[in-house]
Amino acid sequence: MALFSSSTRQLPDTAVVPRHVAVIMDGNGRWAKKRFLPRVAGHVKGVELVREMVRACLERGIQYLTLFAFSSENWRRPQEEVSLLMQLFVKALEQEVEKLDRNGVRLRVIGDLSRFEPRLQELIRQAEAKTAANTRLNLSIAANYGGRWDIMQATNRMLAAQPEKRGGWEESDLEPHLAMSFAPEPDLFIRTGGEERISNFLLWQLAYTELYFTPMLWPDFNTVEFDKAIVSFQQRERRFGRTSEQLTEKPNA
Ligand code: IPE
Ligand code: IPE
Ligand code: MG
Repeated sequence: MALFSSSTRQLPDTAVVPRHVAVIMDGNGRWAKKRFLPRVAGHVKGVELVREMVRACLERGIQYLTLFAFSSENWRRPQEEVSLLMQLFVKALEQEVEKLDRNGVRLRVIGDLSRFEPRLQELIRQAEAKTAANTRLNLSIAANYGGRWDIMQATNRMLAAQPEKRGGWEESDLEPHLAMSFAPEPDLFIRTGGEERISNFLLWQLAYTELYFTPMLWPDFNTVEFDKAIVSFQQRERRFGRTSEQLTEKPNA
């Protein structure tokens, strides 16, 4: 069972801070290039920013933070960069999980993990188990994740769960099988690095998310910029297909 009803059917509470923020952390390579450094230097700096964002979410009472770390298309990068990214991932898990746990953060990794090395898969499994009881912040790292992959794997699992059913499937049949069924749909989506595209991130879940794009490169991003995105979110009227007047009359009509 999905914990949350979709925002396409029921209005989420208008909270002061967004409940769920999803981020495409883009621009590490360009940040490094500007400094005549190897691309990986940008990724190293990018990990520092993840730490800062987690802290910011804890301070602001944001309950869900989902970060796109590696897309299903990123395997197309030079082999050396891919393997350095994997090493960074391993290192981050080895070094950060203890602290995340102490701060009440529940860590999940969403994506097709089968393509990762056994050591990395094991570290992910351990980190998820260790932090499973935490409730302060749900931190999800999308790794080897693709929105289309997610919809397809969910469809396959949905069909397998009820093999006798012939037709009449509804959105609510699929949703419990999606990789993020444990979370409400993102309220705010942020992409750094200037590109204005979704790049196969949470396709299903972003249906009614407020989108925020900034030219700032991910390693330059900080809490001040994060707060600008939140303020921009707070100034928007989320209508979910309704008229402005309906919202002031009956919020869940
Ligand atoms: C995002 O930064 C990080 C990953 C995709 C792993 P990029 O590496 O895409 O940086 P740019 O877009 O080349 O600057
Ligand atoms: C998207 O970034 C994925 C991550 C940030 C992990 P990319 O930089 O790979 O996106 P495209 O391919 O340029 O759209
Ligand atoms: Mg990029």
